[in-house]
Amino acid sequence: MPGPSTMDDLFAAAKAAQARAHVPYSRFPVGAAIRDEAGRIHAGCNVENAAYPQGACAETGAISRMAAEGGRRIAEILVIGPGAMLCTPCGGCRQRIREFARPDTPVHVAGPEGVRRTFTLDELLPHSFGPDNLDSAGETP
Ligand code: THU
Repeated sequence: MPGPSTMDDLFAAAKAAQARAHVPYSRFPVGAAIRDEAGRIHAGCNVENAAYPQGACAETGAISRMAAEGGRRIAEILVIGPGAMLCTPCGGCRQRIREFARPDTPVHVAGPEGVRRTFTLDELLPHSFGPDNLDSAGETP
């Protein structure tokens, strides 16, 4: 289990990335930070686009950074958003996280003051479809 200092690192990395978000359209900056299987942290922010559907979520950016920097598994992920409501990952990002995580992987949801709630990935994306489904495709039920 991560200790408090690890969580502080994750929070700080997500918050620093959030400050660099490119959000001229929504004005809703989000940061995400992943701790990978080796303990390394990879952060991302949302990057919007004048062609609106081409914008990317913070989680997507953090996953891309993780892969490019050699991380292969998400040990935990923290997402920080503005406002009073919980900034939980969107549906598409839950599936993207699923690719590199396990059902019990913690997903921390934070505001400017700190972590507000921690979910397991399975709570956010129950009965999910993942790499195992493809692996078992040749097996008889
Ligand atoms: N957004 C994220 O980056 N992550 C989330 O978890 C929720 C939403 C972004 C997408 C868009 O740039 C802005 O927040 C408003 O939806």
